[in-house]
Amino acid sequence: MPLATPDIAYLKTLIAEKSGNVISTNQDYLLESRLSPVAKTAGLPNVERLVAELRRRPTGALHDQVAEAMTINETSFFRDMQPFDALRTVILPELIKKRSGAKSLSIWSGASSSGQEAYSIAMTIRDSFNELAAWNVRIQATDLSDEMVKRTTDGTYSQFEVNRGLPAPLLIKHFERHGTQWQARAELRRMIDARRMNLASAWPTLASFDVVFLRNVLIYFDQPSKERILTRVHKVLRPDGYLFLGGGETLITLNVPFVREPVGKTVCFRPVTV
Ligand SMILES: C[S@@+](CC[C@H](N)C(=O)[O-])C[C@H]1O[C@@H](n2cnc3c(N)ncnc32)[C@H](O)[C@@H]1O
Repeated sequence: MPLATPDIAYLKTLIAEKSGNVISTNQDYLLESRLSPVAKTAGLPNVERLVAELRRRPTGALHDQVAEAMTINETSFFRDMQPFDALRTVILPELIKKRSGAKSLSIWSGASSSGQEAYSIAMTIRDSFNELAAWNVRIQATDLSDEMVKRTTDGTYSQFEVNRGLPAPLLIKHFERHGTQWQARAELRRMIDARRMNLASAWPTLASFDVVFLRNVLIYFDQPSKERILTRVHKVLRPDGYLFLGGGETLITLNVPFVREPVGKTVCFRPVTV
């Protein structure tokens, strides 16, 4: 039996409150398919009973699991490639000159999913910038989902996942094989600090970043949430820093303090003074 309209409305409100993600009407079918496993794990026969249980309890872990189950974790190594080329050919050479005094660089992969983006950044740094070995280089990866954070820290990927975007020479150089899985070598894993962070709720104290990757996540939020998140990104991005959004994402309709700027063969967003 399909979910009743009040149950659908309840779930959408819960998801919006917990993660800021907006589920549109044409995605209603996903509620049933994504939440059935959550119901089963909680020992409940179906999503209808899951909703009854959620309504009965004060908000807690089960509510978080529902919100996390509705996120899209699609990602891949060197996704869209050009931002990583721009990092290698333009941004890092420039920042290395500018930060040569402090010898410190900080990059944030926000909404990092299972970590392929953070590892792509780490490989770009290790393979092209020997001089940074003596610097304090920090790659902060954050995601809403505890499971994604754990996967990022662990740095272990299936053959299917490494086949998506990771060139064979980089796989051999930076990963070691454990049976059917590939784990990033310790020196790469040490460069990445992964932690849970909900972009839609109160943020923890974050250090300033030189580069922020916030790709393919704003699409899940409504306009006021996008503006709130980007205004906060502006506060943690250094005035001469760089912001990357996903290939199809734009700021055109948003009132946020960033300007679009070509970099290499792609575009990024630069903070403007407010
Ligand atoms: C489509 S993936 C994008 C991954 C990566 N940035 C990329 O472009 O390949 C979207 C990620 O956003 C995360 N996400 C969704 N809502 C979030 C929120 N409120 N706070 C933090 N992360 C969120 C999801 O858990 C998911 O891993």
